Amino acid sequence: MANYDVIVIGSGPGGYVAAIRCAQLGLKTACVEGRETLGGTCLNVGCIPSKALLHASHMLHEAEHNFGKMGLKGKSPSVDWKQMLAYKDDVIGQNTKGIEFLFKKNKIDWLKGWGSIPAAGRVKVGDEVHEARNIIIATGSQASALPGVEVDEKIVVTSTGALDLPKVPKKMIVIGAGVIGLELGSVYARLGSQVTVVEFLDHITPGMDGEVQKTFQRMLKKQGLEFIMGAAVQSVDKTKTKAKVTYKLRKDDSEHTLDADTVLVATGRRPYTDGLGLDALGVEMTDRGQIKTDGHWHTNVKGIYAIGDAIEGPMLAHKAEDEGMAAAEVIAGKAGHVNYGVIPGVIYTHPEVAAVGETEDSLKAQGRAYKIGKFSFMGNGRAKANFAGDGFVKLLADKETDRILGAHIIGPMAGDLIHEVCVAMEFGASAEDLALTCHAHPTYSEAVREAALACGDGPIHS
Ligand code: FAD
Ligand code: NAI
Repeated sequence: MANYDVIVIGSGPGGYVAAIRCAQLGLKTACVEGRETLGGTCLNVGCIPSKALLHASHMLHEAEHNFGKMGLKGKSPSVDWKQMLAYKDDVIGQNTKGIEFLFKKNKIDWLKGWGSIPAAGRVKVGDEVHEARNIIIATGSQASALPGVEVDEKIVVTSTGALDLPKVPKKMIVIGAGVIGLELGSVYARLGSQVTVVEFLDHITPGMDGEVQKTFQRMLKKQGLEFIMGAAVQSVDKTKTKAKVTYKLRKDDSEHTLDADTVLVATGRRPYTDGLGLDALGVEMTDRGQIKTDGHWHTNVKGIYAIGDAIEGPMLAHKAEDEGMAAAEVIAGKAGHVNYGVIPGVIYTHPEVAAVGETEDSLKAQGRAYKIGKFSFMGNGRAKANFAGDGFVKLLADKETDRILGAHIIGPMAGDLIHEVCVAMEFGASAEDLALTCHAHPTYSEAVREAALACGDGPIHS
């Protein structure tokens, strides 16, 4: 039995970052992980592998659609799926090994196995019970189940199975037009699958800016994805090699079926806290199965903290990381802090979609007066040169004070561009502050400046 200042349960972006920061702050730290490798959902079956497949399939798309236009002639590459999966696995391996290296460097003990909390101050892993003054729960999330749908991870898959299919399916049905459905749907559409997305609501990507939603769906349709909107999936029936999806259209209750080789269920994720023993400890939960925490990531049980997908808030790796650092700082007696108003969200399709802060809808709901500065990538020289003129930057600023309240970008490198606005928001900047900042030419980021100019006297290039 070992004695620690902190034991972190789960080594995803929340847990491993918390463990590293605890160790850096001089706390004797261990991290429990039940998987074979460190890094959690994000590194093993989430952010990293999906981005590897998005990158590879985007390269194919560029070769097929844009190389010829630039005078790069010759046959487009064919897909060696096994090699593409091997590339993806190699990327995962490099990243998970990287965390193992960081653990050794920071003298963090990796307690291998599934952990539980038999009592406050104790963590059980296998037959061993360890003592810890503080415990951080960072056990993440898992795919939500859909009533009437049995996942086998072969024909009917969650994102985990979709990242490791034995072959590229001819026909794929994606249930849910959220982030996972559209990212992985894009991968397979680019690789030649006929992809149909079945969505319950009348719009894609709930919570996103309405104009972005419409533009995004139009672009995805152009890329070959088909959409059936307002459709409630009733059941998925499997044969040995195929599946049949039955859905009802909400507008008239009519029932329809669709066949596919693969069905991806992407209807959300839920916190994973199974086997921790939280009930017996009396840890308070929300009615959505999230661990309740106070402003300092502390649960109602002394010495037990929780972070990441297991608690409330957006299920994003960087949100989990920020909470991991902040919780470590709180435990070390410092002032840990996360600004939940400035957490960007990015969809890594092509083009990328990125958002931070308020939407028009959220501002209207608060009754706040705002102005919009919008600029199309059509007016951006770099974007035009790179066949990336479709899309726009939309900045929202307070009507009176000009303070930036949010930004919504659909276009090239949107996931990187958004951070300029994040920094500006952290500093409480006005749209004019951004507009007065010299931006290098020719860069995509000039479009962000032009949107800021559009909040004032007007953009130059439109
Ligand atoms: P997790 O990463 O889920 O890690 C939890 C870890 O805890 C797991 O390794 C699990 O094995 C371990 N664990 C659980 N219970 C125990 C126990 N009792 N004992 C020991 N170990 C335990 N987010 C982004 O920001 N950007 C993206 O591009 C992105 N892409 C994604 C793509 C996909 C396909 C998916 C599924 C998710 C994606 N996400 C993305 C979301 C992101 O992966 C999560 O928000 C993030 O991983 C949450 O981190 P976490 O540390 O809270 O939990
Ligand atoms: P999601 O919440 O983004 O989208 C789920 C979609 O499924 C919604 O559009 C919803 O209306 C729809 N839906 C729900 N029930 C349905 C039904 N019965 N029939 C048809 N449609 C239905 O969830 P998703 O895509 O599974 O992602 C889970 C989490 O993972 C997200 O919270 C996201 O934050 C995270 N993630 C983040 C990524 C990123 O940051 N790039 C990438 C992938 C995942």
